[in-house]
Amino acid sequence: MSTKRGFASDNNAGVHPRVMAALLEANQGHARAYGDDAVTARAVAAIRRQFGEAAEVFFVYGGTGANVTALQALTRPFNAVVCAATSHIHMDECGAPEKFTGCKLLTLPTPDGKLRPEQIEPLLHRIGDPHAAQPRVVSISQPTELGTIYTRAEFARLAEFAHARGLFLHVDGARLANAAAHLNVSLREVVEGADAVSFGGTKNGIMYGEAVVFLNPTLAEGYEFIRKQGMQLASKMRFIAAQFEALMDEDLWLMNAAHANRMAQRLACALGSVPAARLTQQVESNAVFAVLPREVVEEVRREYFFYLWDESRDEVRLMCSFDTTEEDIDGLIATLKRASAAR
Ligand SMILES: Cc1ncc(COP(=O)(O)O)c(C=O)c1O
Repeated sequence: MSTKRGFASDNNAGVHPRVMAALLEANQGHARAYGDDAVTARAVAAIRRQFGEAAEVFFVYGGTGANVTALQALTRPFNAVVCAATSHIHMDECGAPEKFTGCKLLTLPTPDGKLRPEQIEPLLHRIGDPHAAQPRVVSISQPTELGTIYTRAEFARLAEFAHARGLFLHVDGARLANAAAHLNVSLREVVEGADAVSFGGTKNGIMYGEAVVFLNPTLAEGYEFIRKQGMQLASKMRFIAAQFEALMDEDLWLMNAAHANRMAQRLACALGSVPAARLTQQVESNAVFAVLPREVVEEVRREYFFYLWDESRDEVRLMCSFDTTEEDIDGLIATLKRASAAR
């Protein structure tokens, strides 16, 4: 088995040693199942300290489950969810949001993965018309799937727009820590104005598990039933909770995310010295998007695995993780240069 670090995904990284230690620590004797245990209570309290004491916090197994069940809590089956065409809920969840919410996804094209209120407005003209699915939620990803980040002003404008029209704002925060690190704000500030957040842990150094955080606590009513019906209620919940507790402890979440972001900056900067490479998105989180000649991609991928993001234009996605090293980046760049020179 190859253990070499590549740039395919922060999901390819292992588990941070402090998280692994917390898992071992939680593995003592018996604890009540399904979240009725001390570790879960402590982890919920730690997350509340970040997002605000009024927040309702629920652990789930994965990011798709977090998104789907959070959206279920905000909608009824005749509703529609407005999202970017590049969003994970549209592109990468196998239709689960549609299947489990019954809602139509209304997708909008964007150059950078970010929705703007002006684009959403025309989708709202048929609110009240029983022939049309009724928009109820704007769902955004922070950071976006293209690695870009809504500024606080952009975020606030979207939240204000949604609320003024009776819509909720849901945030897919699979990499929320990276956004907070980039903007140098707290987790609460980075989602200020949102109603529900899928708060990711897996991409930030834990083994598995995400949290659904309702910033508007009234929306959490009935969520525990939705989570169970949605097969996201973990019986041995203490092990998800222990990982989040470790992530919150002494801001490990921030250290991991800031490191991954820094590595992406270093990588983007180094790509500037590879004439064949051209960046295609602002590098604001831990993702770098670039166009590279196909032969170079094929050659380099023999050593460092990463994905072709958009085959039609030879665009690749290079992802950094909490454990990416400067040597990894130097090695990738040297390989890229060698492959480019050999063309
Ligand atoms: C933006 C975003 N949302 C959600 C997810 C969660 O996915 P999963 O269900 O694989 O945990 C991912 C994973 O890649 C993601 O990139």
